Formats: sequence, structure tokens, C-alpha cells
Amino acid sequence: MMNAIAAVSARWGIGKNNDLLFHIREDMRRFRTLTAGGAVLMGRKTLDSLPGGRPLPQRRNIVITRNPHFTREGVEIIHSIPEALRLAGELEDVWVIGGGEIYAALLPNCKRCYITRVSADPPFDAAFPDLDRLPNWRLLDAGEPKTEDGLSYRFTEYINENL
Ligand SMILES: NC(=O)c1ccc[n+]([C@@H]2O[C@H](COP(=O)([O-])OP(=O)(O)OC[C@H]3O[C@@H](n4cnc5c(N)ncnc54)[C@H](OP(=O)(O)O)[C@@H]3O)[C@@H](O)[C@H]2O)c1
Repeated sequence: MMNAIAAVSARWGIGKNNDLLFHIREDMRRFRTLTAGGAVLMGRKTLDSLPGGRPLPQRRNIVITRNPHFTREGVEIIHSIPEALRLAGELEDVWVIGGGEIYAALLPNCKRCYITRVSADPPFDAAFPDLDRLPNWRLLDAGEPKTEDGLSYRFTEYINENL
């Protein structure tokens, strides 16, 4: 089963200059809790955006790149979307964790999206597809309004009715 998890701005922005738009501690905690014990699947740029370019601890880290020579300690490398789908079919719990290119490519194969909707609207250069405009995605849980350091956000959940 493949699911996606992301934190998005008011206009579904997710990043700028290969960094996140927000650092919400409670969101990071929720991310760790949900993905713990599973496999995380990410694009090479997202791996490079992590502290020290290192994989996330206590999870199987799978990274997709077109570069046939790419290696990184503690990371499994794959080279295509079909390869990602094959692997996902063999694993119980795969989390698509970004970034923009990888979310867009794998969204049709995700059953659920766990989206932290932040109401702020900063500039961005990477985005998540706007699920409110995609006919097969339904908002299952709009979440309670929360705030941290002056940022308002909700933990929402969408479900893919095509799968
Ligand atoms: N808000 C959030 O929840 C969240 C989560 C994650 C990331 N982000 C942000 O998202 C941004 C990064 O996103 P991005 O779209 O620029 O990059 P990305 O999706 O993380 O990675 C893109 C890279 O993935 C590889 N790739 C893409 N499609 C491929 C394919 N079909 N086959 C093989 N490899 C493929 C390529 O790597 P090579 O160039 O090595 O070939 C490509 O350059 C950053 O700002 C990051 O902070 C935000």
C-alpha cells in the first residue's frame, strides 16, 4: 500500500530553493509517527534537502534518481517510476515523501494523502498537486485548526477513489 504525506501552503506550495516552507514541530512529530517502521520513497533532490543529505533514521529509505552512478550510505537507489511501483507492490507500507516531481508522478498510485494544510502563503518553487481540483480525490478529514509559532494549520486526509 502506498500513501503520500506532505505539508502544503495555502496554494499547495511545498518548497523553495530545495528547502521546506515551514518547520512545524508537531507536524514533524506526526510525520515521524506515521512513517516509523515503513519505507519512505523520495526524489534525489529531497534526499539532498535533508540534514547532511542523510537518510531518515529507523526507516527504509528508497531514493529515485536518473543518475546511474548515484550512491549514498543507508539509501536504496532506484531509477524509474515503474521500478518504484514494483517495489511498492512488494512492501506493506510505503510513504511517498516528496518532493514535487515525485508526488506528481506517484499520486495516481497513492491510496491516501496525509496533508498538513498551512494557511500561510509564502513564495514557492515546488508544489503538490491541488487535490481539491482532482475529481478522484475526496477530503476524508478536514482536521481541527491548530497553531504553532503563529502558523495556522490542519492535519487533513484525502482518499483516492480510483484505487
Ligand atoms: N512540504 C513537504 O512536505 C515537502 C516534502 C518533500 C520535499 N519538499 C520540498 O520539495 C522540493 C524538492 O522537490 P523537487 O520536485 O524539486 O525534487 P524531488 O521530487 O525531490 O526530486 C527530483 C529528482 O528525482 C529524480 N526523478 C524525478 N523523476 C524521476 C523519474 N521518472 N525517474 C527517475 N528519477 C526521477 C531526479 O533525480 P536526478 O536529478 O538525480 O536524476 C529529479 O531531479 C524541496 O524544496 C523540498 O524541500 C517538501
